[in-house]
Amino acid sequence: MDLLRTYADEIASSLSGILEFNEVVKLIEQPKYSTQGDIAFPCFTLAKLLKKSPVEIAKDLAQKVSHPFFEKVVAEGPYVNCFYNKTVVSLKTIKTVLHKRTEYGSSDMGQSKVVTLDFSSPNIAKPFSMGHLRSTVIGNSLANISEKCGFQTVRINHLGDWGTQFGKLIAAYKAWGKEADVKNEPISELLKLYVKFHEKAEADPALENSARLWFKKLEDGDEEARKLWEWFRNESLQEFAKIYKLLDIDFDSYNGEAFYNDKMNEIVKLLEEKQLLVKSNGADIVDLSNYNLSPLLIRKSDGATLYGTRDLAAAVFRKRNYQFDKSFYVVGQEQTLHFKQLFFVLEKLGYEWANDMIHVPFGFILKHGKKMSTRKGTVVLLEQVIKEAIGLAEKNIAEKSPTLAFKDEVAKMVGVGAIIFHDLKNERQNNIEFSLSEMLKFEGATGPYVQYAHARARSILTKSGIDSYHLNPVGLNDDYSWPIVKLLLAFPEIIAKSFDHAEPSQIAKYLILLAQEFNTYYSHVKILNEDLEQEGRLALVQAVTIVLKEGLRLLGVKAPEKM
Ligand code: ARG
Repeated sequence: MDLLRTYADEIASSLSGILEFNEVVKLIEQPKYSTQGDIAFPCFTLAKLLKKSPVEIAKDLAQKVSHPFFEKVVAEGPYVNCFYNKTVVSLKTIKTVLHKRTEYGSSDMGQSKVVTLDFSSPNIAKPFSMGHLRSTVIGNSLANISEKCGFQTVRINHLGDWGTQFGKLIAAYKAWGKEADVKNEPISELLKLYVKFHEKAEADPALENSARLWFKKLEDGDEEARKLWEWFRNESLQEFAKIYKLLDIDFDSYNGEAFYNDKMNEIVKLLEEKQLLVKSNGADIVDLSNYNLSPLLIRKSDGATLYGTRDLAAAVFRKRNYQFDKSFYVVGQEQTLHFKQLFFVLEKLGYEWANDMIHVPFGFILKHGKKMSTRKGTVVLLEQVIKEAIGLAEKNIAEKSPTLAFKDEVAKMVGVGAIIFHDLKNERQNNIEFSLSEMLKFEGATGPYVQYAHARARSILTKSGIDSYHLNPVGLNDDYSWPIVKLLLAFPEIIAKSFDHAEPSQIAKYLILLAQEFNTYYSHVKILNEDLEQEGRLALVQAVTIVLKEGLRLLGVKAPEKM
């Protein structure tokens, strides 16, 4: 039920062709105050077209427009204000939600077309940082939202398992590493070696050279280099797997950079054939000065390939393999230039699908206002953060609901949910100040707050003892249920918007509003009161649980039945 379109349709038909339906839709506004109705149509455009006073036009239109969904349509100055019929609209809305359940808000906008989403993509032999968390949770949520909008998704973890940093790591390991130490504590030992390399390399340029040589050996298939690389890679993957398990996030492909080793030749050849490859100080580059961009480096002077070379090969591979309609890269905004270069090189190669490539950037996680750096060793380890969050949730539960069943499960849902929600409630381009205490707050605009509203609503339904699957909605027209009904009504539109803007925060913010309105309702209305409208109120409560749970699912957050 789309009331805005119904209103637009009524207006357009009473204008008999002066303005088309689509033009009317665009003009319709949300009035500033609820006393001015639910939606309003301003008459300025019509006034210009008809050379008549907008006030006159508004008066005239208000008389013509009517529909069972609308209680009244009144002119106020140059506006035609529309008030929904609360009884009719609430009945219809609640009925729809209860009927469609988890399908409520789904659409076939995507027509089963494929979207690939490149997200998370951490780097081997480095810790999974808070920075990668952003990509992971935003990417996962966008994938969920895409599916909700009718797309097929391919979730790709483009692991950073290749590149000159492996030369550095091997050089550092050869210089200072001890096998037993790495076996014992792989990630932190490898990180130490990596940090040490950068400290020492400042004073000793020979180290950089040794790193370069080791990477070249690796690319040429040298056995020792290869073995060390594989070892580091396996250890890292096992660490990452723990985090994905905690977050309950999965991928369709873990093809990382190394996967494209034997797929880059084709691209380099093609660039040569099209005369796009230019020599510059011994290196091969693609000139992008016509786009006002610095060139994309394809091959270093020693023949070693680069991050961008592998991304070119990956893009072509994905188009062939998945025939995507859109290809998203959920990667921090510091890589904006890289993706511009990448997409323009694909365009230069003549691939018209270069237009379907989309970089979805996001802001930094700052610590005391500064960026975190793996090299300087100032990163916060995500696994620790998650475990602390779960610990805090456990403590909370032990205090508030000591008799709760499945305590550990619930603590995990709440702790992990707090972390994910804390990230996704921010518009993705904003920087986020990293603060464990903020992240773990269980009140205010937080994940646990929304989860709690859901659990509270569930428990009312359980308490009611009425078979919750066959509730009969009734029309509600009181002041406390109406804001909830309006929010329920808006859910499909919120999902579409969050897809259009690749912005899960729209859903997160919406859920906070819905949870707040529900809590207000709960504290003002006696829901369990045996009168004629009890079943109607319970139906509303059930609709709220459905939408809260489904909204949280789209964000990648679980909704426990009890908390
Ligand atoms: N591993 C990279 C990093 O941590 C991100 C890779 C993003 N995906 C890509 N296709 N470039 O910075």
